[in-house]
Amino acid sequence: MKKELLQTPTMIIDKKVMMDNLRLSQQAADKSSKQLWPMIKTHKSIGIAKIQKELGACGFLTGTLDECEALCKEGLDNLMYAYPVADRQACKRVIDIAAKCSFIIRLDSFAGAEMLNEMAKEVGTKIQYTVILDSGGHRFGHEPDKIVEFADSLKSMEALVFMGISTHPGHVYACTGPEELDEYIKGENKAIEEAAANLRNAGYQLDIISTGSTPTFEGEAEMAQVNIVHPGAYVFNDCMQKAFKGIDYDRCALSVYTTVISNPRPGVYICDAGSKCLGLDKGAHGNTSISGHGYIKDHPELEIFSLSEEVGKIKIREGMSGNIKVGDRFEIIPNHACSAANLTSYYFMAEGDEIIGTLRTDMRSNSTFKGLSRSQ
Ligand SMILES: Cc1ncc(COP(=O)(O)O)c(C=O)c1O
Repeated sequence: MKKELLQTPTMIIDKKVMMDNLRLSQQAADKSSKQLWPMIKTHKSIGIAKIQKELGACGFLTGTLDECEALCKEGLDNLMYAYPVADRQACKRVIDIAAKCSFIIRLDSFAGAEMLNEMAKEVGTKIQYTVILDSGGHRFGHEPDKIVEFADSLKSMEALVFMGISTHPGHVYACTGPEELDEYIKGENKAIEEAAANLRNAGYQLDIISTGSTPTFEGEAEMAQVNIVHPGAYVFNDCMQKAFKGIDYDRCALSVYTTVISNPRPGVYICDAGSKCLGLDKGAHGNTSISGHGYIKDHPELEIFSLSEEVGKIKIREGMSGNIKVGDRFEIIPNHACSAANLTSYYFMAEGDEIIGTLRTDMRSNSTFKGLSRSQ
């Protein structure tokens, strides 16, 4: 089927670009003997997770327990959940997942760990965990000089098995261009080296030292201590990766296909893709390096200057000229692919102008009604 026959708005993946993105990162990880456990919250698709595995991914990092459960059900193993749990419902889900597949949780609070330990003890099981290192993001975790103290506090919890440390340099999203990336990578590496040395000096064996983000991926592949890397956005790339990492738009695999549906006044064109397709992200941490609400492929002269829920306003950038009319169709690369992908229930796969298949985003939270059982 030809792309032009699709209804708009809809989400398209350029298959070749996605496969190249996946292969390149897998090759880089293999070359430096790191295991690639991609963060799958970007695509939330079992189909893409299977492709990542076929290409060599050794495990998966997930952003929700729904994603863990979905991967586990498909027989995809070596799952790490990125965040701690702190209520009985989530602890039970963790224990159920760990009974079915090889699973690791990340912990950073005594209270959450204690609850998980007690519940795991009750059913006679053990849960593997890594301690979250704060490598500069100041979200989760413990700084290198405090990490031994926290690890020690969990030592007596006999149902919890210490595996190592994990971190995510999310603060890198505050950087304003590729020339700043090195500083973030150096800071992240220093925190990892210090935390690992402090824990080893205190007698801990570190089977896992894991970290990851797409902007810092190439640097992480070279980090001597790290053995598992977790990029997520690399599968699609987006305007944020273009701004921070300097990648070209032709390495962006995900786009929203849209039609110009109105030209209500001179200079203003309205397309049928709004914030419910593109998301409202303009970059994390107050970053202002992105202008507009996405990049219209092959049309640098056009700017999406405003979004409402179902439609977007387009204009020709000042000082540039262009030709745009009602009925035109465009592909918009989202600012943040992870947020945009979470807004669709399926992707069309394209090879050039040909649509060759579909893939579902079948791991979205609450996308499957589970009735009352979830709250029992
Ligand atoms: C804990 C964690 N690890 C890894 C990633 C992947 O980072 P990126 O999307 O930059 O590839 C994320 C993304 O938010 C994350 O939260």
